[in-house]
Amino acid sequence: MLTSLKPLLEPAIKHSFAYGAFNVNSVAQVEAAIRMHEIFKSPVLLQGAELANAFMAGRTDFMNGTLEEKAKGMKIIADAVRKYGEDSPIPVVLHLDHGHSFESCKAAIDAGYTSVMIDGSSKPIEENMELTREVVKYAHAKGVSVEGELGVLAGVEDNVFAESSTYTHPLDAVRFVKNTGVDALAISYGTSHGAVKGKNVKLRKEIAIAINECLSHERLFCGLVSHGSSNVPAEVVAEINELGGQIGESHGIPIPQLKEVIQIGGIRKINVDTDIRLATTRNIRNLFVKHPEVLNDDLVAAIYEIMKKNPAAFDPRAYLIPIMDTVMYGTIPTPAVQKLVDAIKDAIMEVTGKMIVEFGSYHMAHLVKTRSLEELAQEYQA
Ligand code: G3H
Ligand code: 13P
Ligand code: ZN
Repeated sequence: MLTSLKPLLEPAIKHSFAYGAFNVNSVAQVEAAIRMHEIFKSPVLLQGAELANAFMAGRTDFMNGTLEEKAKGMKIIADAVRKYGEDSPIPVVLHLDHGHSFESCKAAIDAGYTSVMIDGSSKPIEENMELTREVVKYAHAKGVSVEGELGVLAGVEDNVFAESSTYTHPLDAVRFVKNTGVDALAISYGTSHGAVKGKNVKLRKEIAIAINECLSHERLFCGLVSHGSSNVPAEVVAEINELGGQIGESHGIPIPQLKEVIQIGGIRKINVDTDIRLATTRNIRNLFVKHPEVLNDDLVAAIYEIMKKNPAAFDPRAYLIPIMDTVMYGTIPTPAVQKLVDAIKDAIMEVTGKMIVEFGSYHMAHLVKTRSLEELAQEYQA
């Protein structure tokens, strides 16, 4: 059943575990991720970012997508999530990742997203709060949960406060949550997006702990969110490079550090995208090497050519352009494309399975008191 993030946060806060929140950019990934969570009896949190929504509308230069195109892509993703998630025995959440405007959040909610993030983190705090409040008002009236963001994520190698620190200030976090009524808050404490997070990253766990403690003292219900939390496994990067890729020096967030902030720092949602991209690229390159007969297929050969020209690329959206119908609607035109889709599915199953176990959402679905958006809207009103 589809529900919002709020019912998932309740047991996670009570029992100190977290969910991986997984970015999807194709129908096949939606199907495979939901299936993996069903097998592991974990609630599932899928997210579409603004660029993913543009891509899912068929906009291959997704950096330039318009709001109308994003709205179309949102509907396509939401349809896929409903198709595989509506009758699923586990709670299913579809969350907008890094929504950048009220209009974008509204479009996601209208398309069927059950949760949204409004990322006002680049604005001064007062403006951020005003924008976030506006989104909360619209979303909660429809039973949709909201994640805000305070503090700016950056690549960090040092673990000391600089004068220009963009880490989240714990007292600002309390003011932000009180003022906006968000259900979840993304904080900056040393993580960063992408595959280059810096060598030997040491998270400022004290920041998460302080924010969590302050929120508890104020009796504020809010799950903390860790963005930019991919593990970037060295072995996967090495495999890609052995298979003809050229990924430069890459480093992720060590999982033991994430487990620590789950235990003592109130982190309840952990965003993972890069790891899925890496595993997908590794699997597809592996397919080309182990089953070169797939290259007799024109569509797969076209993908191979793009990857050959761009050995450093590991965002599948850069090379899946020849099979946009498959990406958007799940159509399987040839047996070779089926093999490629299986490689895409295996990748997201590998990453989600690992994180479900590591972050502790394994077998937790039964703890969620799932409510419909209508019921949640009434709760917010009360
Ligand atoms: O936080 C960013 C996510 O990795 C989404 O990436 O905006 O390229 O879809 P994207
Ligand atoms: P990664 O780039 O570490 O996977 O982070 C993803 C993310 O934060 C999506 O919002
Ligand atoms: Zn993010």
